[in-house]
Amino acid sequence: MPALVLLGAQWGDEGKGKATDLLGGSVDYVVRYQGGNNAGHTVVVGDQKYALHLLPSGILSPGCTPVIGNGVVVDPSVLLSELSGLNERGVDTSKLLISGNAHIITPYNVTVDKVTERFLGKRKIGTTGRGIGPTYADKINRVGIRVQDLYDESILTQKVEAALDIKNQVLTKLYNRRAIAVGQVVDELLGYAAQIEQYVADTVLVLNQALEADKVVLFEGGQGTLLDIDHGTYPFVTSSNPTAGGACTGAGVGPTKISRVIGILKAYTTRVGAGPFPTELFDEDGEALRRIGGERGVTTGRDRRCGWFDAVIARYATRVNGLTDFFLTKLDVLTGWEQIPVCVAYEIDGKRVEELPYSQTDFHHAKPVYEMLPGWSEDISKAKTFADLPKNAQSYVKSLEELSGAPISAIGVGPGRDETIEINSFI
Ligand code: GDP
Ligand code: IMO
Ligand code: MG
Repeated sequence: MPALVLLGAQWGDEGKGKATDLLGGSVDYVVRYQGGNNAGHTVVVGDQKYALHLLPSGILSPGCTPVIGNGVVVDPSVLLSELSGLNERGVDTSKLLISGNAHIITPYNVTVDKVTERFLGKRKIGTTGRGIGPTYADKINRVGIRVQDLYDESILTQKVEAALDIKNQVLTKLYNRRAIAVGQVVDELLGYAAQIEQYVADTVLVLNQALEADKVVLFEGGQGTLLDIDHGTYPFVTSSNPTAGGACTGAGVGPTKISRVIGILKAYTTRVGAGPFPTELFDEDGEALRRIGGERGVTTGRDRRCGWFDAVIARYATRVNGLTDFFLTKLDVLTGWEQIPVCVAYEIDGKRVEELPYSQTDFHHAKPVYEMLPGWSEDISKAKTFADLPKNAQSYVKSLEELSGAPISAIGVGPGRDETIEINSFI
C-alpha cells in the first residue's frame, strides 16, 4: 500500500506540479488534500505548458485517477473552466473524483477575502484574493457550504442564509458594501450542480479501498510548509495545512498508511505575498534569480520575492513533516554564479541560532549566517545522472542534503518532465 505525500518544503512554488506530473505515470491516484485555486502549478510536457490551479497535477497522466479530497476548498466556476480548458487541449478529465465533503468557495467568500485585505491596508497578508481564508473560516465556524449541499436545494438555501446572516451585517455596516442576496447565490450554485455531479464521490472510501488493493496513491500538497496555518510564519500563511498531517485529515487516510513523505525543495528560496523572509535579496542577485528562474506567480502574476537557500527552513520542514526524501528543483537556475551563499543558521539579537525560532518576533529579527559554496558555469540541463553534474554542483547538492537532514532523491535541471536526475526511485 504505497502512499506517498509530496509537499512544498518552503513558501510554495517549489516545483510541486512538475514533480507530481513526473510521478503521475507510475501512480494510480493523485489526490489534492488542502488549499484550492490559490495554488498555481506549471507543468511542462514536451512542448506543451499547462497551468493548473485546483486540479491535481496527475490529471495530465492518462492512467491516473485525479482526486479532490475533503480538505480542499472548491470554486465551482474555476473547476469547470479548468476542466473545459484541458478538454479543449485533448486531456481526458472524465476520471476526476471530488469529495462530497469538500467545501465550496462561494462568491461571497471571494468578496470577503478582497474587502478584508483592503481593510487591513499595510497589515494585509497579500492573499491571492481567491476566497480561501474566508471559506476555511466558514468551515471552522460551521457555516460552510459543502459540495453535497448542491444536491438539496432546501438545505442549500438554509445554509446560505446562515452564512450570509452575519456577513451581510459586516459587509453593509463595516465595509460599506451592498448586501448579498441569498437567492442569487443559491441560483448560481445550483447552476453548477448538474455539471459537477458526475465527479462527486465518497473519496475516503475509494482511497482506502485503493490502498487495501495495493494501488499507489500520491497526495499532492498545495502551498508549502512555511505557509501552513499551524507550522508556518503565522499570520503570513494560508488557511490550511499543507504539511504532511494535512494529507491524512484532508483525504481521510490514517497516518499508518503513509509510507513516504517527499519534500519539494528549490535550490534557492522564493516567497509571494507579505511576511518575514530572512534570506531575501534586494540586489542584482535577487533580480537575476527572478529573471533566470522565471519567478512570477502562476496565479496572480505577482513577482516572487527571491533569496538564497535557507537550510534552517529546510531542516524545519524535515522535522514537521517527517520527510523521508527531498526532490531538489531548479538547480540549473544557479549556473553561472562564482560563489553561492547558503544560509546555515541565523543570528538573532547577536546570538547564533541553528533552528527556526518559535517566536514570531525572533524570526522577524533573524539575519542569515552564510557559508559560501563554490559555483559552476557548465550547462547542467542535459545531465541525466548525478555523475554528469560538475563537481561543484555535486558538492552544492551534497551540502544541502547534509544541512537539510534528508536524502535528496531527485534533482530538477529544467522545467520539462525529462529534465530530472533520479537518484533513488520513489515508488
Ligand atoms: P508549484 O506551485 O510548486 O507547482 O511550482 P510553480 O509551478 O508555481 O513554480 C515552479 C516553476 O519552476 C514552474 O514554472 C516550473 O515549470 C519550473 N520548474 C520546475 N522544476 C524546474 C527545474 O528543475 N528547473 C527549472 N529551470 N524550472 C523548473
Ligand atoms: P503553490 O501551490 C506561493 C500565499 C499568498 C499569501 C498567503 C495567503 O503554487 O505553491 P491565500 O490566498 O492562500 O489566503 O494567501 O499564501 N500563497 C502562495 N504562495 N505559492 C502558492 O501556491 C500559494 N498559495 C497561497 O501569496 O501570501
Ligand atoms: Mg505555484
